[in-house]
Amino acid sequence: MHYFETEFIKYKNNELFIENVKASDLIKEFGTPLYVYSKNHFISQYKKFEQAFSEINHQIFYAMKSNFNLSVINTFVQLGSGIDVNSEGELFRALKTGISPSKIILTGVGKTREEIRLGIEKKVMMIKAESEEEVELINRIAAGMNVTAPVALRVNPDVDAKTHPYISTGLSKNKFGIDSSAALSIYKRRNEFKNIQFTGIDMHIGSQIASIEPFVEAISKLSELYFELRDEGLDLIHFDVGGGIGVQYNNEKSFTIEEFAEKTIPLFKKLSCKILFEPGRFLTANGGVLISEVLYNKQNGNKKFIIVDAAMNDLLRPTIYQAYHHIQPLQQHNERVDIVADIVGPVCETGDYFARDREITKTHSGEYLAIMSAGAYGMTMSSNYNGRRRPPEIIVDRDNIFVSRSRETFEHLLWDEKII
Ligand code: LLP
Repeated sequence: MHYFETEFIKYKNNELFIENVKASDLIKEFGTPLYVYSKNHFISQYKKFEQAFSEINHQIFYAMKSNFNLSVINTFVQLGSGIDVNSEGELFRALKTGISPSKIILTGVGKTREEIRLGIEKKVMMIKAESEEEVELINRIAAGMNVTAPVALRVNPDVDAKTHPYISTGLSKNKFGIDSSAALSIYKRRNEFKNIQFTGIDMHIGSQIASIEPFVEAISKLSELYFELRDEGLDLIHFDVGGGIGVQYNNEKSFTIEEFAEKTIPLFKKLSCKILFEPGRFLTANGGVLISEVLYNKQNGNKKFIIVDAAMNDLLRPTIYQAYHHIQPLQQHNERVDIVADIVGPVCETGDYFARDREITKTHSGEYLAIMSAGAYGMTMSSNYNGRRRPPEIIVDRDNIFVSRSRETFEHLLWDEKII
């Protein structure tokens, strides 16, 4: 088998380290399943992004849906990032870091009245609208509050991001955004919306996008609309590109942020406004691992199984997107044989697996496996299914270890529940 390593999560003397901390030492202290994050991976990814776009007027809004651990959000806030929130719950969490609401974007295809009201009341930088009815509602709510709400329309550019259908969002058949011609007519009716100021235009075409072309196509399409609006006398102050930049989960082909910047900066330079980005996965995915203990090895017919103590409730991505996560032992055993096995969890679902027919070094009960690239859409998509307590989240910063969230207790599982 091969081993997946990054600058901050790699083997030293055959032992997996997160920065300067040996993964097996963390297990002794915190048990498994266990999420561990590398703070300096997050910082380094953020700085790479910043650097790549330094020559244009821009702002990053971290998409906290990828990892909403307070310490992780705060790491980006400390670096100057804004935040993209998708619900009042995310807004609540974001504000806990002390970030100014003027650095928050409120997103979401189905915002409730309360969410819109809260966004306006807190004075978020911009509310994205995804339908004409929502624009009308924002206008009514703002009028009732006697204020003007800053709004950007999320335009659906009808571009194929060529990613998993569940995380593709920029096609007309997807529920997201407003098509270009409808968006144009809403912007043109701007005088009717007396309590809205249209400040921008927005897109987000999908996630884990592996090539730059769909971005270029979508940015070009939206730019045409931007210029048309300028000719109509509407000067937008920002152009929001959304997120979606893919990362490596294995050895797949992807592009660097520098290549992305090189292809897109010429397009952005034609626009005379600020460029906003909402990266999530790019900043967090490879900064996290989920560590799990091997409980059993078994064989049904010809099929081998490795049963571990983490499950689909801890990391759902393989189950719902057939997503690849590299899995490797905490100790490199170069002399051991490889086997082909399914790596599965204890939940009573056939879909509870982390890998199928995966070539992996033989590991025994009581040894540990690291499920890699679990920093994005891992803990945020976890649940208590099968009465399972959510794992702790540990943050490593060089030699330092912080428990950002401890393992849930059984009491958490019963949160305010009563027997009638
Ligand atoms: N902006 C908006 C409006 C979004 O909906 C998203 C992600 C992002 C930004 C950040 O996208 P990123 O840079 O992380 O690709 N659970 C799925 C991914 C869902 C993405 C949802 N929206 C997964 O585990 O692959």
